[in-house]
Amino acid sequence: MRVLGLESSCDETAAAVVEDGVRALSDVVASQHDVHRPYGGVVPELASRAHVVNVVPVLDQALAKAGVGLDGIDGIAVTYGPGLVGALLVAVQTAKALAWARGIPLVGVHHLEGHLSAIYLEPAAPPMPHLALIVSGGHTSLVRVDDHGVVVELGRTRDDAAGEAFDKGAKLLGLGYPGGAVIDRLAATGDPKAVAMPRAMTARANDDFSFSGLKTALLHHVRAHGVPEGQALADLCASYQAAIVEVLVRKTRRLARREGLTHVQVCGGVAANRGLRAGLAAAAAEDGFTLYVPPPARCTDNAAMIAAAGYYRLARGERADALLGATANLPLPRRAVDVAP
Ligand code: KG4
Ligand code: ZN
Repeated sequence: MRVLGLESSCDETAAAVVEDGVRALSDVVASQHDVHRPYGGVVPELASRAHVVNVVPVLDQALAKAGVGLDGIDGIAVTYGPGLVGALLVAVQTAKALAWARGIPLVGVHHLEGHLSAIYLEPAAPPMPHLALIVSGGHTSLVRVDDHGVVVELGRTRDDAAGEAFDKGAKLLGLGYPGGAVIDRLAATGDPKAVAMPRAMTARANDDFSFSGLKTALLHHVRAHGVPEGQALADLCASYQAAIVEVLVRKTRRLARREGLTHVQVCGGVAANRGLRAGLAAAAAEDGFTLYVPPPARCTDNAAMIAAAGYYRLARGERADALLGATANLPLPRRAVDVAP
């Protein structure tokens, strides 16, 4: 089954064709980073407008690269939330128009279910159930994945997402937008122990995260000492990154142990971070769990992951109709009894 995926939830317009949920025949992403860079973050109205401009060319490229026309598409999967509502609407309306005009089955996909499915495009994918750390610009969650599209959230951030911490930290240091990859690059040559940074909510058995205090600690440091340059900047980036990575790794391995889950995946834009990949790989080797990480380009937003997730829903006979809308807030199902804070 060939599934066309469409994604426009934030600042990437993406289209892809995926066969049987496992083989990407094409994977086209038009990034809007240049549009938002002058503002230091995503401007929702500008995002919507850029998606409108990009969506048809990106769709055409995805079909051309896959070597198929719409006649060769058996299903359409589109991200319907969570995300910026005006941005989401562009792919949703495009998908509905195509599905209606060509009589192609349509399903809506949760953006995070998409991130969880990126790994199924790789030769080695985690069995069910497994633990997943989802770390992106908008989300930081630990979830138990019981099946495709069947997840339970066990922990999440109480304030900022890990990617947000990277981006806001980078903005504070004048490193541009989006700043995660820049901090990652600078951190590689820095000393992670150079500057003391807080690790929040690690003292008690709590599976939630908090990153807003870390951002404030960086702000205080910069107010007291100014923005450093050269090696001192690398040291500060390494210290800041280490604080994020250490908390993510510590809580992931603790939860894997407690839940008895021996397969762990990490996904979302921050999963591209080399410090996080190395930290989780070291924990996997020590604790004996198997770690699965998508290639960096499939960590950040793309439509191949949406098509992969949609494949399983389409195969189960699920269909969306013309009433499919965009939903800005779409929480994952939580475990009934939370671990005490
Ligand atoms: O998954 P994604 O593309 O979009 C959302 O769903 O939010 O994630 C984007 C986030 C941004 O915050 C970006 O700074 C971060 O992923 N990111 C990174 C790296 N590459 C992207 N953060 C740390 N290190 C990286 N190498
Ligand atoms: Zn994402």
